[in-house]
Parts: sequence; C-alpha cells; structure tokens
Amino acid sequence: MTITRSLTLLLLTLFIALPAAAQTTDPGTQLGMITTVSFLVFVVATLMFILVIMGGDVDPIADLYAKIKNYVHPPETEVAEDLGHDFDGIRELDNRIPPWFNYLFLGTVIFAFVYLLDYHVFGISPLSGAEYTAEVQNAEILKRISMAADGEIDENALAVLRDEPSLKLGAENFQKYCVSCHGAQAGGLVGPNLTDQYWIHGGTVKDVYSTIKMGVPAKGMISWQLVFSQKQMQQLASFVLSLQGTNPPGGKGPEGNLYVQPVAAAKDTAAAKNQ
Ligand code: HEC
Repeated sequence: MTITRSLTLLLLTLFIALPAAAQTTDPGTQLGMITTVSFLVFVVATLMFILVIMGGDVDPIADLYAKIKNYVHPPETEVAEDLGHDFDGIRELDNRIPPWFNYLFLGTVIFAFVYLLDYHVFGISPLSGAEYTAEVQNAEILKRISMAADGEIDENALAVLRDEPSLKLGAENFQKYCVSCHGAQAGGLVGPNLTDQYWIHGGTVKDVYSTIKMGVPAKGMISWQLVFSQKQMQQLASFVLSLQGTNPPGGKGPEGNLYVQPVAAAKDTAAAKNQ
C-alpha cells in the first residue's frame, strides 16, 4: 500500500505543481496550458487508479458505466404513460423529463448562485466594467513606460532634427495620422497649409511642436501628446518644417502670420521667435 500512497501523493503534487510551472506571462496561453496539463494529469491519475488501486480490474467501472447509461436513457422511456389522447393516430405520451436535462437545469441554477455570490455579493471577480478600466489603466502605464524609454527631450531647448532617419520617422507618422486633415503633401484640407510661411499658431520649431502636442481642440485637431512620445512629436515638427516652400499643387492659401525660418540654422533658438 505504501507504493499506492506515494503514487497518489506524487500525482497530487503533479496536479498542483504542473499548472503552476506551466505559467507564462500571457494569460491566454496560461489558461490553455493549465487546462491541458490538468486534463493530462487527470487522465494519468485515472489510469493509475485503475491499474494500481483496482489491480487492473475494470469490471466495476464497466458496471457503473452501464448503470449510469441505463439511468440516463431508461429503456422503458418509450412505454411511457399513454395519456389516451389520439389525434389521427398520433398519441400523446407522458415521457418523463430526461435526467440529463434536469441536471443541466440544476447546474444553471447552481452556476447562477455561485456567479451571484462571486460577482455581486463578495465582489471577488471584477465585473466587465471594472475589468475594462483596469486594462485601460494598465495599457496607459505601459504606454507611458514605452514613451519614457523612447527618451525624454528638453522641450525648452528644442532643436529641428535634420538627419534622414528622424525625418523619415516623422514623415511616416505624418502619413498615418495627419494627411486626412492636412493633405497628402501637407498643402492643407480641413487643416491649414503647413508648407507655406504663414502660421496661425507660430512657426518656430517650439511653436509647431507645441501645436502638435497640445492640438487645437476647438478647431478639431486633437492633442497628440497621448499618441506620440516627445521624440516622435519632435520628429513630426521637424518633418513639417522640412516641407517649407515645397508649395504642393492645390495647396491652401496663407493663413496666420508670416514667419521666415532661420536660414540653415543648426538649431532654432528661442530668440528666433515670431513677432
Ligand atoms: C482632424 C483634423 C486634423 C488632424 C488629424 C491633424 N490636424 Fe493639424 N490642424 C488641424 C486644424 C483644423 C488646424 C488649424 C487650427 C486653427 O485654425 O487654429 C491644424 C493646425 C495644425 C498646425 C498649426 C498650423 C498653423 O498654421 O499654425 C500644425 C503644425 C499641425 N496642425 C500639425 C499636425 C500634425 C503634425 C498632425 C498629425 C500628427 C495633425 N496636424 C493632424 C486639423 C488636424
């Protein structure tokens, strides 16, 4: 019997330890792993039980199975009580409700009760609203982390980026997020022409950066600071400024005040402000 005991103990340990060991960071995979491993352990445990404890004698199990089968499908079902109603040869029988149906019904009642206690009385599991809020908060934090990892920049000493890779990244985001309002070549649609020397909100790199960052919500341009990192906004502002004088066909007329970009300056200084 010691062998049986230690085997059972081993299996129990497996049952508990394996799912824990199978944990991954992805909750979807984790659940699948736990289910699979638990099922596997269950099958092995059952086989062991039959082989070791029952000495390989499966007759009792077969008997039990036959009993359950006969109960679920009682052979006498078809000779259920005849209610004596005959409609053109169609008789009404009073069949009893199949047990599986009753169990199913009972199951739903128990499930509802457990669910009620879990979600509404003790509040152990979060309702979908709370789950959603938690996920959004989580995503917000992850986003902040990834944005911070992108590198903080000093917004007070903002420089125009002129290197090819930065301008390319700026152009990519511009194509994705800005062309719907500013036009494919930034000549202006709903939003103003970004290629001329006239600016509603100022034309220094700092001005352009802060227009992108804060948006102009009253006119329909959202604040982009929740979408882009500081670096990305700097790339966008630099890309926008690199379009100066491209004069795309069908561009909108000038809006705002004239601001001439400092010629070939490596850096825009605060002194180069419009006014
Ligand atoms: C939903 C439409 C819309 C989208 C999308 C949009 N903008 Fe705008 N943008 C506007 C409007 C409208 C204005 C003009 C605001 C005003 O009249 O004060 C504007 C103004 C600007 C200005 C200031 C122009 C000036 O003359 O001072 C800049 C710079 C700018 N947008 C850049 C961007 C960038 C970069 C993106 C993409 C990340 C973007 N916009 C996406 C609508 C949009």
